[in-house]
Amino acid sequence: MKDKIEALRAKFTKDLSSVKDLSALEELRLSFMSKKGAIQDLMKELGAIPNEQKKEAGQLINSFKQEVNERFENKKKELDELALKFLMDQTESYDESMPTKDPCGSYHPITLIQRELEDIFESMGFDVEDYNEIVDDYHCFEALNIPKFHPARDMQDTYYLSTPNQLLKSHTSAAQNHIMKKYGDALKNEGRPIRAVFPGRCFRNEAIDACHENTFFQMEGVMIDKDISISNLIYFMKTMLSEVFERDVTVRLRPGFFPFVEPGFELDIKCLICGGDGCPSCKNSGWLELCPCGMIHPNVLLHGGINTKEDPFKYTGFAFGLGLTRLAMMKYGVGDIRVFNDGDLSALSQFVSR
Ligand code: DAH
Repeated sequence: MKDKIEALRAKFTKDLSSVKDLSALEELRLSFMSKKGAIQDLMKELGAIPNEQKKEAGQLINSFKQEVNERFENKKKELDELALKFLMDQTESYDESMPTKDPCGSYHPITLIQRELEDIFESMGFDVEDYNEIVDDYHCFEALNIPKFHPARDMQDTYYLSTPNQLLKSHTSAAQNHIMKKYGDALKNEGRPIRAVFPGRCFRNEAIDACHENTFFQMEGVMIDKDISISNLIYFMKTMLSEVFERDVTVRLRPGFFPFVEPGFELDIKCLICGGDGCPSCKNSGWLELCPCGMIHPNVLLHGGINTKEDPFKYTGFAFGLGLTRLAMMKYGVGDIRVFNDGDLSALSQFVSR
């Protein structure tokens, strides 16, 4: 047995040294380790060996097997390193003006739904705005009529930076004040209504499960002008949602409390699955809760410099906060919110063709 193993070891060493790629390595591995491989043949021969020599022979085979395994792994590592080095050498001559041979990569479902909504709102005259992820307490809360120690803050516990007064925004409403200041002059001097949507990543201190994430996306929208009323709000929301779901959706408003709107609403759409008869996805109510919204609170317009204390109702406006992540779950039928953040390409790349 000893001689046989020695002969096999010599053969293995010779073959391994000539291996240049992973497929040759795998071939060699199979010729030694598979059910029909050389090591299995040795095992079969054990049966014919006298009992008193069996133990020693078995140990010899086992340690040879271990050795072969280790040397395979080392060779594999060596080849991986070579492959990486080759790739890096190639990258140096990378020419970004070269067209790609094959289309590759795909858009994240949140990006897809965000762009779709941006197109719809742009076609209705809205500007699309970007805003910071790190904001201060004033923009996230105080300018939105949520003073310090207001209980509404409890629902939006977020992440505070060690720099004083800096936090990760817990909702896209945090950009409202900035938008009002950016477009306020054009409204007051030229009569140009403020119509803007601002998508963004939001953060909350949440326990993560299939429906909750600490990082998610919203799209906020505001429209401010003279005589803006709830009818305008309903019209824009209904038009936009009918486009998103590619059918005529029925909406309803229920009262909802948010300190930065008065009156505030929860906007529901008639369940797209059962058409309002009741089914598990709408918890048998016939309606799906989709988007909180309302008429912008006078204090918020005041903070934004739109109205003055002397004339607090000169301009009015509506605001809404669409949950982009939730909308993507509904539109693409994704049952677990964690799919969006865990970077699993086999799940995320499925949205490319939709
Ligand atoms: N910012 C709120 C949240 O994330 C959602 C919201 C409610 C936004 C009402 C609005 C609104 O613009 O009018 O919980």
